[in-house]
Amino acid sequence: MNSDPFSLAGRTVLITGASSGLGHHFSGVLAAAGARVVLAARRMDKLHARIDELRSEGHEAACIEMDVRDGASVRNGFEQAKETFGVPDVVINNAGMEPGVFTYITLEEDDWDAVMETNLKGVWLVSREASRHWIEQGRGGNIVNIASILGFRQQKGVTPYAVSKAGVLQLTRQIALEGARYGIRCNALAPGYFLSSVSSALLESEASEAFVRSIPQRRTGEMQDYDGALLLLASESSAHMTGQSIVVDGGHLVSSL
Ligand SMILES: NC(=O)c1ccc[n+]([C@@H]2O[C@H](COP(=O)([O-])OP(=O)(O)OC[C@H]3O[C@@H](n4cnc5c(N)ncnc54)[C@H](OP(=O)(O)O)[C@@H]3O)[C@@H](O)[C@H]2O)c1
Repeated sequence: MNSDPFSLAGRTVLITGASSGLGHHFSGVLAAAGARVVLAARRMDKLHARIDELRSEGHEAACIEMDVRDGASVRNGFEQAKETFGVPDVVINNAGMEPGVFTYITLEEDDWDAVMETNLKGVWLVSREASRHWIEQGRGGNIVNIASILGFRQQKGVTPYAVSKAGVLQLTRQIALEGARYGIRCNALAPGYFLSSVSSALLESEASEAFVRSIPQRRTGEMQDYDGALLLLASESSAHMTGQSIVVDGGHLVSSL
């Protein structure tokens, strides 16, 4: 076995939603594992600030503007990425959003569309673009999708988000099935709750304490809790894994009813 089975040395990794939260954190984890990193999002000021930090630590980093809801923007982003470090070897589909707390009854159509387009269609568009480049170049590739435990279980107030993440889990399996003949593999990382702009409405509310008590480990995730699963899925250590999801949630999914 390689002395560092999770090394990404010599690999280029593109990560979407790298302007804040988990994507911002993961960009550093991937770079520290030796990857050249390409950071994608809409807020370019945040991406430029992050690549300056990464470069000052001695890493190779670039950033591209990409709206994952828009096929043309995804295509342009890949063209820019190609000019910098070549076609990325690994893609991390991390961009995501939630619209606030609504039931399926109070939710408006625009909010449903925004969540589905960002969380689900975006994963498909980015995966499709990467795969077309890999197939054109006659080589395989690796896709890691950031799902959520809400792809497996229900919670009141988050219907489109939960449905989109369940869709991401199924899309992961579909890509694995259809991509395997091209050497393309695809797995998902499903985090439990951690504090970010996606979860702050709940985790910073009065309901937070009781909510956290329902997690067997009695705590939400810290960003670094997800590093191991990310590096396993992004590296060649998972070469024989495809269509799978890894849950990292402090036991939240096995909590009793
Ligand atoms: N926080 C949690 O408890 C939790 C739990 C499970 C899973 N997750 C998942 O973890 C991932 C990261 O979320 P986070 O919690 O770190 O939240 P966050 O800080 O709000 O990060 C979301 C990222 O997605 C990007 N994004 C949103 N819409 C986009 C679009 N149309 N095009 C391109 N990028 C877009 C944002 O960048 P711009 O606004 O600059 O474009 C931002 O960088 C998401 O997939 C989320 O669903 C979160």
